[in-house]
Amino acid sequence: MRLVTLVALVGLTALGWAQAFDFRRDNNCTLNLLGKGPVASPDTVYGFLNSQELASSANNAPTPSNYTQSFKNMKAATQADNYLGFVYLDSYDTNTCASNCTATPGCQGINIFFERDPSKGPSPSCTDPPSTTTIKCTLWGVGVTEKNAVNTGQTSSGFTIAMAGSNGYNNGNATNENGQGSAENTATPSLTIPLSLIFLIMANAIA
Ligand SMILES: *[C@@H]1O[C@H](CO)[C@@H](O)[C@H](O)[C@H]1NC(C)=O
Ligand SMILES: *[C@@H]1O[C@H](CO)[C@@H](O)[C@H](O)[C@H]1NC(C)=O
Ligand SMILES: *[C@@H]1O[C@H](CO)[C@@H](O)[C@H](O)[C@H]1NC(C)=O
Ligand SMILES: *[C@@H]1O[C@H](CO)[C@@H](O)[C@H](O)[C@H]1NC(C)=O
Repeated sequence: MRLVTLVALVGLTALGWAQAFDFRRDNNCTLNLLGKGPVASPDTVYGFLNSQELASSANNAPTPSNYTQSFKNMKAATQADNYLGFVYLDSYDTNTCASNCTATPGCQGINIFFERDPSKGPSPSCTDPPSTTTIKCTLWGVGVTEKNAVNTGQTSSGFTIAMAGSNGYNNGNATNENGQGSAENTATPSLTIPLSLIFLIMANAIA
C-alpha cells in the first residue's frame, strides 16, 4: 500500500514537472534533447506553421482501428480536463499514440501533433534559439474535439512555441461534442493507479 502511494507521489511530481518544464527544457544555453520531427526551412514560426511536410503527415495519417477522427491538421493542441499524460513519438505514428491510450485506463481520446520547441534554453542569455520539432501524443480522459483544441503555444525569451499538424481521435467509447465520454467511462478514476501508470509511460518516454 505504501509503495503504491509512493509510486503515485513520484508520478504526480513527474506530471507537475512535465507540465511546468516539459522535461527537455533547460534554463541556460545547453542543448536540450532534440525531437524527431523535421525542422522547417526557414526555421521561423511562419515556416513551421506553413510547412507542407508537417501538414501532409497529418492529412495522410491513418485513423487507428477502434478510433474515429475528430479533427485534422489544426495548428493548436488539445487543452481539456482529465489530462492523462503524454509520450514523445519517433514518428507521426497515430497507431502507437492510440495504443498508448488503449493501454491507459479511462483514456477517451488522443491528440497527436508537431510542436516547435527550443533546441536550447530559451532564457535571457539564450534568446530565440534554433528550434527542434517534437512529435507529441497527449492522452485525454474526455473526448478531443476541434473546440477544445485551443493551445496555440506561447512565447518566451524571443522563442515561440507553436503547434502544427494536430490531429484528434476518440476511441470507440468517447461520444459527444462536449468532450463527454459514455457514462461508463466518465467515473473519476482512482487517483493512485492512473498516476502511477502515467509515471511509467513518462519514464518510458524519457528513457
Ligand atoms: C546548464 O544547465 C545544466 C542542466 O541543468 C547544468 O548541468 C549546467 O551546469 C548549466 N550550465 C550553466 C553554464 O549554468
Ligand atoms: C479493436 O477492438 C476489438 C474489439 O474490442 C479488439 O478485438 C481489437 O483488438 C481492437 N483493436 C486494437 C488495435 O486495439
Ligand atoms: C507508447 O508510445 C511509445 C513511444 O513513445 C512506444 O514506444 C510504446 O510502445 C507505446 N506503448 C504502447 C502500449 O503502445
Ligand atoms: C469500450 O468499452 C468497453 C466496455 O468498457 C470495452 O470493453 C472496450 O474495449 C472499449 N472500446 C474501446 C475502443 O476502448
